[in-house]
Order: sequence, then structure tokens, then C-alpha cells
Amino acid sequence: MTANPFPRRLHPRVRISEPLSNRTTLRVGGPAEYFVEATSLRDVADTVNTAHEIGLPLHVIGGGSNLLIADEGIPGVVLSLHCMKKINVFGAKVHVQAGAKLSTLVNRCSAEGLAGPQSLAGIPGSVGGALAMNAGGRYGEIADYVERVIWINPQGELESRYKEEIDFGYRISELRHGVVIEAVLQGAPGERSELIGRAREILQQKLAAQPYSEFSAGCAFKNPIGQSAGRMIDLAGCKGLRVGGATVSDRHGNFIINTGDARARDVLELMRQVTQRVLEVHGVELQPEVQVWPGRSLLAA
Ligand code: EPU
Repeated sequence: MTANPFPRRLHPRVRISEPLSNRTTLRVGGPAEYFVEATSLRDVADTVNTAHEIGLPLHVIGGGSNLLIADEGIPGVVLSLHCMKKINVFGAKVHVQAGAKLSTLVNRCSAEGLAGPQSLAGIPGSVGGALAMNAGGRYGEIADYVERVIWINPQGELESRYKEEIDFGYRISELRHGVVIEAVLQGAPGERSELIGRAREILQQKLAAQPYSEFSAGCAFKNPIGQSAGRMIDLAGCKGLRVGGATVSDRHGNFIINTGDARARDVLELMRQVTQRVLEVHGVELQPEVQVWPGRSLLAA
């Protein structure tokens, strides 16, 4: 059996060869060599330090909603902060830990009369994951509400950064190179019942347009500037295209569905075929939005 390289106090929170597919919304992929569930900043620091000292690759998993994990699994450490999920609202500011679900954050903000984050209703995933990729949709993105973020930066230091000091782009942020611990978000005062209604309306729109009840990683590709990848894929005739257990949704062209027994390699091959067809029909090369693991390790020297 593989030895546990982590400090003894962390052992109850370390699992060896832990299956990951059920921790992703796409439900594909192999196990993590080491899976660590952090319950405190000290757990996170010990995990990061151990990985660094013995040269293990490090990945942080959030809600697993934008993630495609290789069939062979992930060497090194996969760190989860899903137990670190406190949310505290102070007037128009909210302090939220990385492991909180985005949907819980939206509901809390509405219930406490904090307007803003309702625009993120219906987006799956954790707050840490949302910050790492600047999650958003038609009505806004999480960067719109960031006041500051506390993270372990790529140099391994605990740091607080104001929004102006963070590089946010379309579905990308530099925070993906470190470990987000918590954030302070800034909203505005609002009326509770209106905010609850607004969030519900946005959620309903998504439920109507997207294949919510099926296994997918959300939109597979980024929208090219000024265009919709979903529409381009649809017009290119890719809906219903299938490789193994993976198929392009009939409902929304930018969703790849695991019909039950898809492997990561099926999804990747289908993405390749879709990219090729869209290039032929529209002359545009789609870029993946879904994160493919194992990619680059965090905090790599
Ligand atoms: N459309 C089609 N056929 C399709 C899909 C879409 O004709 O198969 C048309 C729609 O009718 C609409 C237009 O394309 O006129 C745009 O579609 P939609 O409103 O669904 O938005 P989108 O640009 O495809 C973006 C985000 C989604 C987000 C929605 C709603 C990206 C890549 N996608 O989709 O985000 O939920 O807006 O806010 O930015 C995600 O990031 O995982 C994601 C799903």
C-alpha cells in the first residue's frame, strides 16, 4: 500500500486512490492518488507544504462542475475545501469561504437582502471554483462582486488581494494558479422578496434552455467574441453526434452529455470532432471551457 506522506494530524482527512468521477457533474474519470478534505486553513497549508516538499502535483477541486478528469486518474494530490463553507453577511458585504456552493451563496444573499450575486443563479459549483474561472453568464460574472480574495498564491504565500490586483478575464482568472481560501464580496442593499424572485427567474431561464438533469460539465467551449458556441455547434449539425457514451445535447449544442458509461477519452474525442466541424462550417476554432485534468500542477516551481 502507498505510504501516507502527510503529517499524522491530517491522516483522517486523507484518502488514497479515491474515486473522483462522482465528485464531478460529468461523472467520468479515474481516482486521485491522494485526496485531502481540508477543514481549516492549517489543513490547507499542511497539504500544500507536503505536496511542495515531496514534489507531488497539486490540484484543487471545487464543485467539479467544469471538470473533465482523465480515465487514468490524477497523480499527486487533489485538495477539496468543500468542508470550508461558511457564509457571513454583514450589510452589503458577504464573507464566504471557498468551499461554499455558489447556489447557497445566492440564496443567502437573497434571504439577507444583499443584491448582486443573484445574477449568478443557476451556475453550479463552489465559490472557490467560480473565482478561479470567473464563472458567469448572461447577467454577470463573479468578478463583478469581488472586493478582495484571500488565497495561497503561486509562491505558496497566504495573501489578500483587492479586485484591482487580480487578473480576471472571460471565464478565466489568475486565481486558478493558487488556492482560494475565502472572499469578501460587495453587493448593494435590496428587497428580499424581489431578490428571491429575480434569482428564481434566472434559474428558470437556465432550466428551460440547458440540459440540467443530465450529467455534463456545463458549456464545453467558450463563446468566441460576440458569438454563441452553442448556436455554432447547432448550425454545424453536431447535435446528437456521439462517441461511446458521450453525446452532444439535443437541447443545447454546447453541452456534452454523459449518457451513462462515457469515458473521458470519449468526451475528448467528441470535443475534437465538434471543434473540427465548427472550423469547417464557420471557420472558427472553438476553445475548450472545461478544465481537463491532469493539467498543470498548482504552485509548480
Ligand atoms: N442557441 C442555439 N442552439 C443551441 C444553443 C443556443 O441556437 O444549441 C442560441 C440560443 O437560442 C441563443 C444563443 O444561441 O439565441 C445563445 O444561447 P444561450 O442563451 O444558451 O447562451 P450561451 O451563449 O450558449 C452562455 C454561457 C452559459 C450560460 C448562458 C446563460 C458560455 C460559454 N456560456 O451560453 O454558461 O449559462 O450563457 O447565461 O459563456 C457555462 O459556462 O458552463 C455555461 C453553460
